[in-house]
Amino acid sequence: MDLLESIRANARKHGKTIVLPEGTEERTLKAANIILNEGLAKLILLGNSDEIAKKANDWGLKKISEATVIDPKNNDRLDFFTDMLFEIRKNKGLSREQAAVLVQDPLYLGTLLIKNGDADGEVAGAINATGDVLRPAFQIVKTLPGVSVVSGAFIMIMKDKKWGDDGVMVFADCAVHPNPTAEELAQIAVVTAKTTKAIAKMEPRVAMLSFSTKGSARHEMVDKVATATRLAREMDPQLLIDGEMQADAAIVEAVGQLKSPGSPVAGKANVLVFPTLEVGNIAYKLVQRLAGAEAVGPVLQGMAAPINDLSRGCSVDDIVNLVAITANQAAGV
Ligand code: ACO
Repeated sequence: MDLLESIRANARKHGKTIVLPEGTEERTLKAANIILNEGLAKLILLGNSDEIAKKANDWGLKKISEATVIDPKNNDRLDFFTDMLFEIRKNKGLSREQAAVLVQDPLYLGTLLIKNGDADGEVAGAINATGDVLRPAFQIVKTLPGVSVVSGAFIMIMKDKKWGDDGVMVFADCAVHPNPTAEELAQIAVVTAKTTKAIAKMEPRVAMLSFSTKGSARHEMVDKVATATRLAREMDPQLLIDGEMQADAAIVEAVGQLKSPGSPVAGKANVLVFPTLEVGNIAYKLVQRLAGAEAVGPVLQGMAAPINDLSRGCSVDDIVNLVAITANQAAGV
């Protein structure tokens, strides 16, 4: 069974409830129909129920009737969620009046449904920018204990099976935190290793990437990565991690042995941690386009409940896969 099939099979076992705030959007509705048909998750769709029913009918999406539909602008819990949001954000200066407006925003309502225990996770971003999906998640669901920074990993499925473990690698942070400190980068490495085990089902070998391998260049940017490597080892002493190292030293055995002899990671890394978001985002897109890799994600990590963000260019299949991954994260498998 390939990785995506096994992720879908796991999702099916757990019956988690995922909220889709963009419930009237075409790809989302088509994906929802597949998710319900395959039993990957229970769904809450946010949007006007008449509009959803009409679109489902027009497009022949028979399973949509099995989803719970909540209209953010017209539901009997508007006051309840307004109070909830006000309580969570009043110390940040949010007024009750502002909260009453925000709860009608599907991206806010989605995270409030998670906070209230109605849903186990959320997938959005087919029509909303990353920042708009993430902000309510950061404000309402917040991070896991011991984690201060959310980041985004991509599971990269390469055409050439020689890379990573049978062609599968994990890249992070490619989606969220523009310029992490050394401490934050260490956290990103540790949570990415967890994602690698939980979702990609691989034993992580983490390379902390830079433009230098073990002191070959001197610069404060290199120092940051070297410090992050040391901190990550302190956070998780069992973790197979090494750095700083260049990308070729990380993935090409001969170069790894030459530049970092004896390293347990150099030349055989299956997890690449990038020093900044700029590098991570550019790198994953280049590998996706130039090497024809399938980029699954971003899988957001470090949040207290799984919330995942789609690219606005996503396909129906991308949404189905990300919902399955979110259900896996919610089940903690
Ligand atoms: N992890 C956890 N919490 C965070 C993080 C983070 N990485 N970043 C911000 N926060 C929290 C803040 O602490 C703050 O919480 P508080 O209000 O309770 O104090 C809240 O989120 C809002 O913080 P701001 O500083 O106002 O954050 P802002 O909204 O300006 O930016 C954002 C956050 C939207 C994630 C920003 O960092 C961003 O735009 N990142 C880039 C996202 C992006 O465009 N990615 C590339 C595209 S994705 C792709 O190609 C797959």
